[in-house]
Formats: sequence, structure tokens, C-alpha cells
Amino acid sequence: MSITLLNLYPTPADLQRLVLDGMRRSPRQLPAWMLYDAEGSRLFEEICRQPEYTLTRREITLLEQNAAAIAAATGPGLVVEFGIGSARKVDALLRALGSSVFAALDISVSALEDALSGLANQHPSIAMMGICCDHTQLEQLPQHPALDGQPCIGFFPGSSLGNFTPQEAVQFLANARKLLRGGPLLLGLDQPRDPAQLKAAYDDAAGVSAAFARNLLTRLNRDLDGDANPEHFRYRASWQVHEQRIEMALVSTRDQTVRLAGDAWFFRDGEAWITEYSVKYSPTSAAELAQRAGWRIQQRWHDDEDHLSMHLLQPAD
Ligand SMILES: C[S@@+](CC[C@H](N)C(=O)[O-])C[C@H]1O[C@@H](n2cnc3c(N)ncnc32)[C@H](O)[C@@H]1O
Repeated sequence: MSITLLNLYPTPADLQRLVLDGMRRSPRQLPAWMLYDAEGSRLFEEICRQPEYTLTRREITLLEQNAAAIAAATGPGLVVEFGIGSARKVDALLRALGSSVFAALDISVSALEDALSGLANQHPSIAMMGICCDHTQLEQLPQHPALDGQPCIGFFPGSSLGNFTPQEAVQFLANARKLLRGGPLLLGLDQPRDPAQLKAAYDDAAGVSAAFARNLLTRLNRDLDGDANPEHFRYRASWQVHEQRIEMALVSTRDQTVRLAGDAWFFRDGEAWITEYSVKYSPTSAAELAQRAGWRIQQRWHDDEDHLSMHLLQPAD
């Protein structure tokens, strides 16, 4: 059993710069990865267990049902997973591919460590490589003997691409194309459907999604010397039909000043601080997006109700 961890976590100066940039935006918005400190990763797992949030359960079933067909379509290679979280989805794929090496990327070091030790127990013969990084900034895989020379198979489930704006998503996909060295990308996307159902998934009755969003303030207070009071913001998830996305935000419940990263930021009563988006992609919009980033969709697998799909992207030329 072997696990190697590389730490390329953004520096405190990077974090400070990103926060300053995000707080100067209108509306204010920081990169979605900042939601994932250890507590954020834990809360995300709890969201996945909520009855309203069906994506995780559906995607695992879809992968288990189609792993052999997916492996036949990709051929063998080094699986590189973007944003592994708790590693609940890659198991069937690793088995079907008969992999000997696996590389996982995640910004949350606690999630990455737990994920790889759990996977290593299930797959003792696979060499596990974890890279703690912001994968939007990783242009190539680090130099390491375990990662050299093998064709890559990218794996990006969870509809996490939807956290980006379409423009950011194109940049991410174009970058992933280089990083994967000509190999394919298996991309899980959630599709537009009944807005009430979608809204409930991102604003569960137990309040876990709200706690996940508020935890952003707690982590900023800790890591960037902030004084935001999570109780002075209410959580809101809304469906934006034009953009085909759920917008998640913390809405200020009063006029207030928040100190963060050495600056003071004034929030009006009712002002929204966007915590993340979840853009939904129909098969047509997914194909357009892939094409803009230099990919083509070779094959698509979807669940029984056609709520979400796994796309196999190949470099367009
Ligand atoms: C929505 S969760 C999905 C987890 C898992 N892939 C799934 O499908 O259940 C997003 C995961 O990606 C990680 N993540 C988010 N943004 C990231 C970034 N820019 N770079 C690296 N990891 C990121 C988070 O820490 C988290 O574990």
C-alpha cells in the first residue's frame, strides 16, 4: 500500500490576493474552493446524505452500472480525479480499468488524506498519489516517477464544473486538456430540471447547505483575521432561469461592516455575497461548452430519469 502526498496549497499571499479580488467584485464572490476547509468538506458530505440532494447517489449508481462500458471506451490509463472529496465515486472505475496508479487532486488536505487512506485500504495494490492544490491553477502534473509516461484519464464528477461560470468552465476544460496529455476526460454533469426540486437540493430542510455556506465566514475569520458574524447573514438559494443555474448566497440582514484581510467591507442590508453557483448543463449546452474548450463528446451515459449524465470527452483534434 503506498500513498504519496504533494502539497501545492495556495500560499497565504495568494489567499489574501484572491480574497481582495473577490471582495472588490460586484456582487462579492470568492472562489468556490474556499468553502472547503476541513469543516466545509465534512459539511459537504452531510449535504450528500440529505434526501433532497440526490446527485451523489444517482451518480454512484450510474458509474457502477456503466464502469465496464466506460473502461472499454477509455482504454487503460492513469486516472486523475479532480476534486476527489470523500472518494465515493472512483471505486468502480478503478476496478474496471485494473489501474495500478491513481492520482487525486483536492484543495482540502483533510479530505484528500482521508480519501486516499480509505481508497488504499480498498485497493492495496494501487499506488495512490494525492496533490493538494487549486486545480484551476495546475497546468501540468508534477514530475514524479509514478506519473510519468502513462496516458491519463481525467475524472471530474459531482457536476463540480457547474461551480464555474461558463467562461471559467471553458478555461478549466482547456487547461485539463493540456494536463491530461491528450487523454480523455470523464465529466459528470447535472442537468436542468424542475426548479423547485433543484432549489430544495441546495437549501435542504435540515439546514446543512446553509451551514456549509456560513462556514465560509468562519474559515475566513480564522485564516484571514476576519470578524464576519455568520448570524448576520441569511442563506439563499435561487434558480436563475436565464443562466440555468442555482445561485447560492449569504444575504446581509443589516447594514454592517466586515473586517477581512486587513480591510473593511461595507454590506448593505439585503446585499448578497455569492458563495457559489451550480450551473446545470443540458446535453446540447454540454456539447457546446466542450467544443469551445477543444473537446468533443464521444459518449454519454445518463440515469433513468435523465437528471444527470457522465460524458466521455476526447480531444477534438
Ligand atoms: C462538490 S465537492 C465534490 C466531491 C466529489 N468529487 C463528488 O463528486 O462527490 C467538490 C470537491 O472538490 C474540491 N475542490 C473544489 N474546488 C477545487 C479547486 N479549485 N481545486 C481543487 N479542489 C477543489 C473540494 O475540496 C471538494 O472536495
